[in-house]
Amino acid sequence: MSGSAYQDDRGNKDRSITNPEGQGTLTAYGKATEAKPAGGEAPFLIGDSMTGGYGSGADILHDCTIAVEEGQIAVIVGPNGAGKSTAMKAVFGMLNLRQGTVRIGGRDITDLTPQARVAEGMAFVPQTSNIFTSLTVEENLEMGAFLRRDDIRTTIDQVYDLFPILKDKRRQAAGELSGGQRQQVAVGRALMTQPQVLMLDEPTAGVSPIVMDELFDRIIEVARTGISILMVEQNARQALEIADRGYVLVQGSNAYTGTGKELLADDEVRRSFLGG
Ligand SMILES: Nc1ncnc2c1ncn2[C@@H]1O[C@H](COP(=O)(O)OP(=O)(O)O)[C@@H](O)[C@H]1O
Ligand SMILES: [Mg+2]
Repeated sequence: MSGSAYQDDRGNKDRSITNPEGQGTLTAYGKATEAKPAGGEAPFLIGDSMTGGYGSGADILHDCTIAVEEGQIAVIVGPNGAGKSTAMKAVFGMLNLRQGTVRIGGRDITDLTPQARVAEGMAFVPQTSNIFTSLTVEENLEMGAFLRRDDIRTTIDQVYDLFPILKDKRRQAAGELSGGQRQQVAVGRALMTQPQVLMLDEPTAGVSPIVMDELFDRIIEVARTGISILMVEQNARQALEIADRGYVLVQGSNAYTGTGKELLADDEVRRSFLGG
């Protein structure tokens, strides 16, 4: 397995995806360390003690906390219906929280709309309907940059560097692409806003193990540029291998939290959530 190698090699200072002109404020992840334990240094993005549900329905999240540090990869795993997608939506502002706060870079953004959160540096790739199937690949990328008024060409080229197949298929309708390629379009589109945090809900759903490995490699590459990754994954074992921090959610609550390595080594987590 290559997970530990990834975790021990997290020092690349290339920030070109977020920071083509070298004018950004990001600090790339500088040295290989374990993810900070809870209660340590303030994380870059945190959904803190979130409680809430859909509309006036029952609470789905119960005092749920999800966080990611700068340039790190945080992974949320757990059974179907545990509230993983709901937690992501809550962090992105698609849910009214009854309790709890969401903060980015120390700023309280709990009351901001999703669009305002994009302006704050967040990008979200939802689990479904995450591309425009009738638009071309390149049009999808252009749509991703809807908030920008500057030249987006450099960013498009960076996305093509990350996912070369998208350059070959840039004139094709995104709906004609394979599942893995569509996910690349979705991730690429999210990167077009030059986010500081990339949130991915099951980016490898429905793709083969080989394509999953490739996508994880690209996600690691993105994290190395200084972008934080907050990701839900059903491929729990593989995802925890690349995770600086892992969260196991059960029935809307935090069941287990630790570094990816810690969770992979935990007998209870292995037995209950990783198939032994
Ligand atoms: N739009 C919605 N309206 C009402 N309930 C929802 C909605 N989406 C999900 N739920 C409910 O919230 C719970 C958690 O779902 P979800 O967050 O999608 O779980 P997961 O992503 O972990 O599989 C489930 O009981 C589900 O039925
Ligand atoms: Mg889900």
